[in-house]
This record gives sequence, structure tokens and C-alpha cells, in this order.
Amino acid sequence: MAEPAWKLFDRVADEYDQVAPFFAEFGTAIMEVLDPPAGCRFLDLGSGRGALTAPALARGCVVTAVDASPAMVKRLTAAYPAVTAHVMDVQALALPEGGFDLVGSSFVIHVLDDPAAGVAEAYRVLAPGGRFAFTGGSARTGGGGGAPSVADETSLGSRLNGLFGRFAAYLDPDAGMGRPVDAADLLEEAGFVDLREDSAQVAITFRDGEMLWQWAMSHGYRAFIEALPDDRRQEFYRGVLELAEDDRVLRRTTGVWSGRKPG
Ligand SMILES: C[S@@+](CC[C@H](N)C(=O)[O-])C[C@H]1O[C@@H](n2cnc3c(N)ncnc32)[C@H](O)[C@@H]1O
Repeated sequence: MAEPAWKLFDRVADEYDQVAPFFAEFGTAIMEVLDPPAGCRFLDLGSGRGALTAPALARGCVVTAVDASPAMVKRLTAAYPAVTAHVMDVQALALPEGGFDLVGSSFVIHVLDDPAAGVAEAYRVLAPGGRFAFTGGSARTGGGGGAPSVADETSLGSRLNGLFGRFAAYLDPDAGMGRPVDAADLLEEAGFVDLREDSAQVAITFRDGEMLWQWAMSHGYRAFIEALPDDRRQEFYRGVLELAEDDRVLRRTTGVWSGRKPG
């Protein structure tokens, strides 16, 4: 059985989002969509190094963050002493019912062993009337496996997806990280109402192919790359270097799916 996703993130915590601020920029864009007021009690589920936590604190929210990776939590608390952070499984939160006005989870739900359990926990800890929003992996907009969707076939994002698609043939179907989820189904099954689908975009410029490779190795893509046979990994590496020869700007769009807890 594959290791839980958080173990890979624990290993890459030092480099995570440091090669390029991909998740941090998404976090800022997602917070603009959610637009919480100052004083909002915000819970960041699977916080990593603080992509959502940082903009929530900047808006005056009172932030609690949880992540199963001790290395992520250590770096998060060092960078943001104002946050109340816990090493905790988002599928079984040791937090009381109804204590938050807003719960957010960026690029986490689709990597869980049991995505429905994570969404149910978000519902439980929200106050009546509170909203839960998440990104990553919804089959509805074609962002399977957590890769946010792209439009232009010749773009760096599209060609990167194409490279992953070609090399997927060398892997077990269970290898890699993250599975498509149906966001609307997950939200409805947990009891959320007033569902919304918003979107968030980023554009990240890479200096060269080597930087693109270092970035790919610093987050969930690494699970896919590590699972390749050695010779194919070398081939994949050369493919990544070539990708950045033309277009060096990675543009990604993700759905931001949310629902309100009745009350
Ligand atoms: C792709 S990262 C996203 C981190 C952050 N939300 C961001 O946008 O940068 C996924 C995060 O989920 C955490 N994670 C994975 N499974 C988890 C679980 N069962 N409980 C808590 N955190 C988990 C990982 O440790 C990692 O920090």
C-alpha cells in the first residue's frame, strides 16, 4: 500500500514552495475569492507552509492550522508565530464542534486516503452558517490528480501535463499522488448547502528547465517522479528541461469549491 501523502510532504518540507511560490500565490488568490473579514475564525486544513494561513493572518483572521507533517508544522510556526498550529490528521480532527467561521483547504482533500472524511470533519468544526472551501483534484473541471486545469495546448502547463500523461504508462495505476474527486458530491454528502464554484489563477515564471525540475521535485509531483523506473526518470528529467526552452511561464487555474453549513 502507498505511504500516506503527508509523509512525502514531511520529506520535502524544507524545499516546499521555496523554489517558486506556486502554492503561496494560489493561497493569496484563493483568499481574495473567500474574502474573510478581520476577526474571522479561520481553520487551514493541511496548511503546509502557510499558503492560506499567511493571507488569512494578513487580513486579521484568527488562524488555526493543522497538518499531519511535523516538519511542515515546525516551519509554519517558525514563520507565523501568531498561528495556533497542530500536527493532526484532517480526517480525524481533535478540535471541538462549531468553533470556526471559515475552513479552507488548498490542494489537500484529493490526496487524502478518505476525502469524504476530511470534508465531514470540516463540516463538524464549522459554526452554523460557516463556509468550507477547497481546491485540488475535482473531476468537474478536468483537474484530475490535483493538476489545476489549463487551456492553451502549446502552453508550458499543457505540455507539462502532456509529459506526465506520457510517462504515466510506466507506472502502476495507484502510483503518484492524488485522485480526482467530485467536489459537488463531496460537499453535498457532508451536508453543505449553497454550493459555489469560483476560480483562482497563478502565473509563475521559471528561470530555466533546471528550476522547473527542482520545483517538480519539491511537492506532490515528486511521488510520480520517484515511482518511475530509473531509466524513465532520467528521460523524464530531460523532458522537463526541454519544456522550459520555449515558454517559461506556468499558468494554472483551479476551481475553488465551497459550501455553507446550514444554520
Ligand atoms: C499539496 S500540500 C498543500 C499545502 C498547503 N495547503 C498549500 O496550499 O501549500 C498538501 C498538504 O497536506 C498535508 N496532508 C496530507 N495528508 C494529510 C492528512 N491526512 N492530515 C493532515 N494533513 C495532511 C501534507 O502534509 C501537505 O502539507
